Amino acid sequence: MKILVSAPSGLEGVTKRELYKLLNVDTKSINGRLSLEGDILSVALCNLHLRTASRVFIEIGSFKAQTFDELFDGIKELDFETYIHKNGKIEVYGSSIESKLSATTACASVIKKAICTRLENYYKSPLNESGERYKIEFVIRRDFVTVCLDTSGEGLHKRGYRKLVGEAPLKENVASALIDLSFWKGDKPLVDVFCGSGTILIEACLMARNIPSGLNRDFDFLHYKNFDTSFFEGLKQEAISKMNDGKDLKLIGFDINENQLRLARLHAKNAGVTENIHFQQGDMRNFQSRFNCGVIISNPPYGERLLDTNKVNKLYKDFGKMFETLNGWECHVLTPVTNFERLISKTANKKRKVYSGKLACNYYSFFSKKC
Ligand SMILES: C[S@@+](CC[C@H](N)C(=O)[O-])C[C@H]1O[C@@H](n2cnc3c(N)ncnc32)[C@H](O)[C@@H]1O
Repeated sequence: MKILVSAPSGLEGVTKRELYKLLNVDTKSINGRLSLEGDILSVALCNLHLRTASRVFIEIGSFKAQTFDELFDGIKELDFETYIHKNGKIEVYGSSIESKLSATTACASVIKKAICTRLENYYKSPLNESGERYKIEFVIRRDFVTVCLDTSGEGLHKRGYRKLVGEAPLKENVASALIDLSFWKGDKPLVDVFCGSGTILIEACLMARNIPSGLNRDFDFLHYKNFDTSFFEGLKQEAISKMNDGKDLKLIGFDINENQLRLARLHAKNAGVTENIHFQQGDMRNFQSRFNCGVIISNPPYGERLLDTNKVNKLYKDFGKMFETLNGWECHVLTPVTNFERLISKTANKKRKVYSGKLACNYYSFFSKKC
């Protein structure tokens, strides 16, 4: 079957690399989604292990439609019974871009009606929808409809350790991609001097300890009655056997706000990594280290809700001064502040466009030859 993997905007390349490492497949990128051929085992592996992906879908079909009648008829032709059990609860959501059918709520009801009609004919009884959930996602792009089964259910950034959110927290899969792009592999100290609720450090720790990102959460596909997913527990046990205790890791979180640190400690506890991360209250301006070599990965406050522009400018200038004192260190900063390099008086070796939710940011990397 055709599997589609979505990733945060700007980070598809990182997810593509992850997929290659995980399944040894070269994926095609179509409209921001990575496409591969696979089976239910591939679906399980992707959901359990992909740290940077957003969701894993099975494509059910695609066709052209410009009217509601064409949409209804196209959906009715697709093989939903392979996936959806007769008591399945069907939820339809989706989007439409540059298409005649632009009213997404109306499209969702037509699609649901067509799916139910098809399934009622197949199962020869009315559907009662009392069973497990099947999330059906549609995308209409230039009058071309693609219909998928969302096997993740909740977005994959939800690992299960973050119940409460801090101030402007990063999504876990975006944090994980930032770590990947820094090339940090667990061998050097890693510091987040604006750690907030701890996402970057926790994700770094999960990665370095080989703890699967989906170990402590549920996925919709595990409840699908038409598939045998009894192998999943074995898959988890195999992954657990490859985990390490990370006792040599040096992970340090700094934040000025004690409430944020309280959250960070709670999240680290939920993720089972309390022993590996040291959280400390302090102003980034006072950060010093006894190590000659290390990596900073941070997303500082950026104005709007969190700070006014003058304060942001001052904070970023001071960040530049603090970083100057860490001779030999590397640093990677995600921020929407476009004059960041000017403020810290340093030109990045690499600058990438990355979206944090809907917010367009740049990810600035300052590598070091000494480190
Ligand atoms: C954008 S948030 C970081 C969010 C974090 N990545 C997360 O996932 O929760 C910025 C953080 O910087 C902290 N902060 C602001 N000024 C600071 C300073 N001078 N020194 C250290 N931390 C500071 C704030 O308390 C806030 O938690």
